[in-house]
Amino acid sequence: MTADQPIGIFDSGLGGLTVAAAVRKRLPHEKIVYLGDTARVPYGNRSPETIHTFAEQDAAFLISKNVKAIVAACNTVSATALTSLQEHFPELHISGVIEPGADAAAGARRIAVLGTRATINSGAYVKALRERYGENLEIITKSCPLFVPLVEEGVLNGPIAQEVIRHYLEKIPEPDTILLGCTHYPLLTEAINEYYNGKVRIVDSADAAANDLKKYLTDNNLLASEDNHGSLQLYASDIASGFREQATRFLGTDVPEPGKVTLTD
Ligand code: DGL
Repeated sequence: MTADQPIGIFDSGLGGLTVAAAVRKRLPHEKIVYLGDTARVPYGNRSPETIHTFAEQDAAFLISKNVKAIVAACNTVSATALTSLQEHFPELHISGVIEPGADAAAGARRIAVLGTRATINSGAYVKALRERYGENLEIITKSCPLFVPLVEEGVLNGPIAQEVIRHYLEKIPEPDTILLGCTHYPLLTEAINEYYNGKVRIVDSADAAANDLKKYLTDNNLLASEDNHGSLQLYASDIASGFREQATRFLGTDVPEPGKVTLTD
């Protein structure tokens, strides 16, 4: 691996652009290749076997783009398929977002982890939180499958968003910390904050994942030179109408022209 190579980031869809945004901020000189498997999103309601297959195809595509490291910017993949991905592609550093998400939760006493069904059912967050903070931390987990379509539709605030948030969160005791265990959910931060009247701390894994990546690149002499201008190349398996608008929402700035890819074994 050399420092000139790009970083690969993938997600089931465009939610992982929230992680790409954090990586761009933390590592402004890096070239980033982002893949969103928009033709098959969401992964969160699928079986672990299917998620494994999709994740391997996603990683193989990024490897074909000569990346020096990969971030699985999808909690569903990180929770169910990260180890098998690392075993399948041992030549490359592949990191996920669960461990950084658990790091970001430091200081919590009663935490509610929100995620897709696959992420919550995997138990990966409970394991990562227990490893760090022991038995004294009270952990509540809640799958919120309607959050992804809500975010994809751009319904980020207002009565519908509040009603969906209430649908899930009124059934759980009020936590002091909410961990957003899905890369789509950071766009709902304001609405969740409103639901709790600002009384609950809301954390996600994007910044921690970017820091983790920076540490790996620094420790392995793989940081891009400061003379480089960072760049973002965007690929997706489906480019439907509204793609650019949605991608811009997740990235927080205008997105480049996307390339269309077909993902196969
Ligand atoms: N971005 C995905 C995640 O972080 C959620 C969407 C999906 O279910 O694929 O889990």
